[in-house]
Amino acid sequence: MEDHPTWKFTDKVLHKQPLHQEGFAKASSNIALIKYWGKRDPILNLPLTSSLSLSLGDLGTQTLLRLKKGSCDCYWINGKALEHKDSAYKRLDRYLSIFRPKGLFFDLRSINSVPTQAGLASSASGYAALAKSLDALFGWNLDQPSLSRLARLGSGSASRSALSEPGFAQWDRGSRADGLDSFASLLPHQWPDLQWVVLPVDFSPKSIGSKEAMRQTFATSPFSRNWVDRVETDLSKAIKSIETRDFTALGQVMERNAFAMHGLMRTANPPISYLQDKTTKIIQWLYQKRSEEGLQAFITMDAGPNIKLLFEKKNKEDLAKAIASNPSLFEEQKPIWINPWKKEVCNNIFTKY
Ligand code: PMV
Repeated sequence: MEDHPTWKFTDKVLHKQPLHQEGFAKASSNIALIKYWGKRDPILNLPLTSSLSLSLGDLGTQTLLRLKKGSCDCYWINGKALEHKDSAYKRLDRYLSIFRPKGLFFDLRSINSVPTQAGLASSASGYAALAKSLDALFGWNLDQPSLSRLARLGSGSASRSALSEPGFAQWDRGSRADGLDSFASLLPHQWPDLQWVVLPVDFSPKSIGSKEAMRQTFATSPFSRNWVDRVETDLSKAIKSIETRDFTALGQVMERNAFAMHGLMRTANPPISYLQDKTTKIIQWLYQKRSEEGLQAFITMDAGPNIKLLFEKKNKEDLAKAIASNPSLFEEQKPIWINPWKKEVCNNIFTKY
């Protein structure tokens, strides 16, 4: 890790000698309420703006990491070995090479309980669990900011998944070139009534990865400056509404921020769109339910066509009824109800290996 002058995530100099036989860790995924879209440094994944997320409870990734002799790394995701030509293999290889002890290779086994690569942030929990398992394997004993920075090097949104507790995570953009001030921290507010439901549209791999899509957006869109200014305002509004527990204010700012991000992508050249016809139909359905029946739920979407709704527990029944009353929109894939505050149960599912 000393080989590259910019690979810095702690003030300590870390050793490359493993302290243990293996490192095991879990991380919960997250969904951004105020989005990260755009990098000020693509190697270190330093963002143009700060962002804010809410965890996905027990949906996330478990990772077991070991060192081995041989000639190359082995990465198993959900029981399937990645091939060297896979982009996911190359990305993991680049990341793990920063930490590789001379002459040794990594054996990584990860199980996702979130669908892989579907805009449901499996890379967030994936790289957060990997950062924590590196810490466990080498025995570095990193503090929370360092774990968050370490996860950030793998995937920006992973910085918000490397925290020890479920809840709201604020990732500060920071201003240092080495990224030491760019990490996530938990907000001191809990809001156990807040819940997610994912309305699946399509879980197949995305057409363009978020890294390339961000690059394309900021290289070509005439509106990128407006986005950067807007996010700072949206973030303050979101934090204020969390402090005052104003659900409508939080839902509105979250929804508009997501639409602004997707609108911005459409102004890139060529335009980028992750949304599908069915996504638009669900959005129209929700707007109608909200205006005609006062249904209290708000939308967000990431780099994929699936819709996530934020709602309060007391409205779950109304929402479930509304969804059930429209089988043509929701019959193919069932909604996924998620409690963001559920703590991960840390049973190591790899004991059989
Ligand atoms: O961390 P990445 O590179 O997968 O980017 C995540 C981008 C969004 O999910 C669209 C927004 C966010 O803040 O999570």
